[in-house]
Amino acid sequence: MTEIEEWWEEQHNKNNLLFLTGTLLESVEYNHNLRHRIESNTKVLNVGSGNVSIELGLYERGCEIYSLDISKSALDKVRSLIHNAKVYTTKEYNKIPNHYFDVIIHNFVAQHMNNTDLVTQLEALILKLNNGFISLQYFESDVLNQRNLTDEKMGGYPRTFDELKLLVNEAGGKIVMWFCPPDWETSRIVRIVKL
Ligand SMILES: C[S@@+](CC[C@H](N)C(=O)[O-])C[C@H]1O[C@@H](n2cnc3c(N)ncnc32)[C@H](O)[C@@H]1O
Repeated sequence: MTEIEEWWEEQHNKNNLLFLTGTLLESVEYNHNLRHRIESNTKVLNVGSGNVSIELGLYERGCEIYSLDISKSALDKVRSLIHNAKVYTTKEYNKIPNHYFDVIIHNFVAQHMNNTDLVTQLEALILKLNNGFISLQYFESDVLNQRNLTDEKMGGYPRTFDELKLLVNEAGGKIVMWFCPPDWETSRIVRIVKL
């Protein structure tokens, strides 16, 4: 296991809410401008299950649950709450159905990822889209710190828009929409589709 994988296992095992966040589905829909986009028949993949709050919202909505997380413990928690959820670790991109999803939610995860891992993940996720899009939240700053492993753990990995655009292109995608979410000032949301 890599150091960052071990670190996330520890946060999930300790149920450290500081890092598991717990964003409600309604807040994701509001800030990602996804209102009325997610119905019972919408195929949604959530990246970064945290304390399972987004999955529980999707479950109440009647959606099938698909989760991707770096941590096996996180996914065990999803399965313990939603028995028929389909869950995947970041080592199992190949098991996720291809050309399937209408919406992939990526909320409060990119700030914990380095550029190499983000490109690898986006490349895999783009293949999973069925004419849909990835709605990705990231923190934006022109002042980029060193961005080391501690920054990944702490969620201190901001990007400029130009940098993110390059990474998305490298992964085989393009940004078709970009906006500031109403509740999260220093954050940005991008919609990514296949190039
Ligand atoms: C800050 S929490 C956010 C949880 C949820 N998305 C939310 O908005 O409440 C970050 C979550 O992403 C997971 N995570 C961290 N790095 C990841 C990666 N490279 N790929 C997928 N999930 C990751 C963590 O295990 C954790 O569950």
